[in-house]
Amino acid sequence: MASPFVARSLDEIRFWARIMKEHALFLSLGFNSDDKQLIQEAKQFIPLFERIEEQLSNFSVHSDPQQIVNFNNQVYQAAASIWAYKRKVLELTLQCKIVSNNYALLIDHTSREAAYFAKRLKELNEGKLKPLPEAIIKENVFFLRIMADHSKFIGHLLDPSERQLVEQAREFSHDFDQLVFQAIDLDSMRPQSETKPILDQFLDQNRVSVVALRDFKKSAKELIEACRIKSNIHPLLADHVFREAERFLHIIDMFEESLTSKE
Ligand SMILES: [Fe+2]
Ligand SMILES: [Fe+2]
Repeated sequence: MASPFVARSLDEIRFWARIMKEHALFLSLGFNSDDKQLIQEAKQFIPLFERIEEQLSNFSVHSDPQQIVNFNNQVYQAAASIWAYKRKVLELTLQCKIVSNNYALLIDHTSREAAYFAKRLKELNEGKLKPLPEAIIKENVFFLRIMADHSKFIGHLLDPSERQLVEQAREFSHDFDQLVFQAIDLDSMRPQSETKPILDQFLDQNRVSVVALRDFKKSAKELIEACRIKSNIHPLLADHVFREAERFLHIIDMFEESLTSKE
C-alpha cells in the first residue's frame, strides 16, 4: 500500500530539489566575475541537487518508508548546506564586501525557501503530515511573503521603460504585503477548528490573489521567452517563480481539503 509519508516526502523533494538547483545557478550568474570562489561554491550545489533528483527516480510511493526516512535526512543535509551558503553570501552583501547583481532580499528569500524545505523534511520525518489550523496560517504567512517578494523582484528586474508591467508588479507587491499583514493578524488571533469559516474565507481570499499573480507570471514568462519585453529576468527565473505560485495554489487546495475532511 502506498504510504502518505512516502508520497509527501517524494513530492516535496521533487519540487524543492529543482528549486535549490536553480537558486545555485541564479546566484552564480549574479556575482561579479572576480568573485570566482563564490561562483565556484554556488555551482557545486548544482550537481549536488542533480544527484538527489537522480536518486528520486529510484523511489516510488511504494518504497520502504525507512529508506525514505534516510533519504529525507540526506536531502536535509543538502538543504541545510545551501541555506548556510546563502546566509554567508547575504552577510558579505550586507557588509558591502561584495557587490553583485543579487539583491539582498533575493538572497534572503532563497535562504528562507531553503529553510522551509529543510523544515518540511524534518517535520515529515517526525510524522507531521496533516497541517493544524495554526500551521495553515503560518504556512500562508510564509508563502504570501514569498509572493510579495516575487512581485518586488519582477518590478525591479523589468526594464524601467516597461512602465505598465512595472506598475502591475508594484500593485501585486502592495496586494501581497496587505495579505501578509492580514495573515499575521489572523495568526495572533489563533483561530481554532471551530472557526473554520474564517479559515475558509482566508484561504479563498489568498487563492484569488495567487491565481491573479500566477497568471501575471505566466504571461511575463511567455513574453520573456518570446523576447517581446525588455528585462534582466532570466527565462528560467520567470519559470521558477511561476512554478512557486503553482505550488502555493496546490498547498491552498490541500489545506482546504484538510479543513473539509475535519467536518
Ligand atoms: Fe525560489
Ligand atoms: Fe521564490
